[in-house]
Amino acid sequence: MMTGQQPIIVLKEGTKRERGRGAQGNNIMAARAISDAVKSTLGPKGMDKMLVDSMGDVVVTNDGATILKEIDVEHPAAKMIVEVAKSQDEECGDGTTSAVVLTGELLKYAGELLDQNIHPTVICGGYKLASDKAKEVLRKLAINIKPGDKKTLRNIAMTSMASKGASAEKGVLADVVVDAVTRIAEKIGTRTVVDLDNIQIQKKQGGGIANTEIITGIVLDKERVHEGMPKHVKNAKIALVNAALEVKKTEVDARIQIQDPTQLQAFLDEEENMLKKMVNQIKKSGANVLVCQKGIDDIAQHFLAKEGVYSVRRAKKSDMEKLAKATGAKIVGNMEGITTKDLGYSGIVEERKIGDDKMTFITECKNPKAVSILIRGTTEHVVDELERGLHDALSVVKVAIEDGKMTAGGGAVATAISMALRDYAPTVGGREQMAIEAFANAIEIVPKTLSENAGLDPIDMMLEVRNAHKKGKKYAGINVLRGKVDDMLKNNVIEPLRVSMQEIEASSEAATMILRIDDVIASKGGGAPPGGMPPGGMGGMPPGMGGMDY
Ligand SMILES: Nc1ncnc2c1ncn2[C@@H]1O[C@H](COP(=O)(O)OP(=O)(O)O)[C@@H](O)[C@H]1O
Ligand SMILES: [Mg+2]
Repeated sequence: MMTGQQPIIVLKEGTKRERGRGAQGNNIMAARAISDAVKSTLGPKGMDKMLVDSMGDVVVTNDGATILKEIDVEHPAAKMIVEVAKSQDEECGDGTTSAVVLTGELLKYAGELLDQNIHPTVICGGYKLASDKAKEVLRKLAINIKPGDKKTLRNIAMTSMASKGASAEKGVLADVVVDAVTRIAEKIGTRTVVDLDNIQIQKKQGGGIANTEIITGIVLDKERVHEGMPKHVKNAKIALVNAALEVKKTEVDARIQIQDPTQLQAFLDEEENMLKKMVNQIKKSGANVLVCQKGIDDIAQHFLAKEGVYSVRRAKKSDMEKLAKATGAKIVGNMEGITTKDLGYSGIVEERKIGDDKMTFITECKNPKAVSILIRGTTEHVVDELERGLHDALSVVKVAIEDGKMTAGGGAVATAISMALRDYAPTVGGREQMAIEAFANAIEIVPKTLSENAGLDPIDMMLEVRNAHKKGKKYAGINVLRGKVDDMLKNNVIEPLRVSMQEIEASSEAATMILRIDDVIASKGGGAPPGGMPPGGMGGMPPGMGGMDY
């Protein structure tokens, strides 16, 4: 920078900076690398990814959000794409792969427009118009879900799980999901609200997927601490304690000099007395069940067993919170203060054997809205992928109940939007028309990729599906299971409206944000953001992205 003759140095020496088309090109490339990485997982015929971390731990998944969470992304623009997946996941729990793939495609077409010297501002303006129009089309295509229509909700759950493993047993899972979500749905005024925090998910390896069940209450992956305790407690009065039933060890090493054996006995007696006092306090409150977040000493276990208190130790914090909500108990921090008022209530607390392990079931809770899903599956990997599938299914059913609106999947809405945008573009005219047309092309990536992943020819399928729409079949999409264009509504491939809405919104916002960047300055730390700006300019693929093309 020059003022008069004197150069003014604004940026520190060595600061890397990339401006204009170079910065845009590099950002677009990084974003597209991310979208290409997850593309092959889209849809029921999508492939899985095996992710291996530095410790050698393996995750096998088809879930876009999970893949992006697990891989190390370094490029700043690539990170923004990962954010798209995150926001989509938070908002709807599903549609993450679609949102990311769509963002990549919007940027690909934007790159072509930039090459034709169309200004980014014009592209962003066109994309905004297009996304508004797309949402308008979506609203028109939306179908109302009748309250209490469990069959439809079940199909929505099935569609979201179609692309996850365990396809054979999906029916059982869909029933469990719909049952769980409808149980916890609450009417607040005229709105229906679903708080998924009310659903606890417990996993237990072993048994078939079909053994996955819903439990009205809370399940702890813990057995009672002592054989002498009752296995089964009716009318349970439950104490939730976040303190150890142990004699505190001192922080510093201390040595106690004992001169004669009676002193040792006195010392041990004192310890026993302290533990006994703690147990008495619990007993005095009227509790017959104790769930402790910390440890329970052997001697304390013995006293608790003698008093007939069913006790569990080292419960998870999240389970403690769910228990508090379900039973109405208050989590107390120290034994001394515990009173009857702090106790929670449930009809039955019992130990049951699940697979090879024993678990604690707390059922008939004070708050009937508390439900748990106990996931079963042959191996750990199966159980984990099932949990991800359940997460998606629970989320879509929640969204469907809350909004009461759905659309057809299988690329049906994308096709409808694309065609509507092509009609709309000439009415806008000018250079923005080109951006709207680009948007129309980009959104076809969903049906195209669904076809491609199913081994179908994307060009043929697109021609066919567009023809069907021209004939007024507005729910025509790619039925990948039958390998042909089909009415997705009739085939029960349905999704909540909010998923498609959010896909459009998140992807067009992210694409626009990335397009507006024309200057990337590596700040602080003396160097470029890792992988962000490789030495020698930003023309090539940043090193951090090298591993993406698996
Ligand atoms: N039977 C089916 N035929 C065609 N498409 C389907 C079918 N079932 C689900 N889909 C589509 O698969 C896509 C979702 O795939 P998925 O891998 O779950 O990605 P995302 O992370 O975007 O949800 C949606 O477009 C959905 O409509
Ligand atoms: Mg999905």
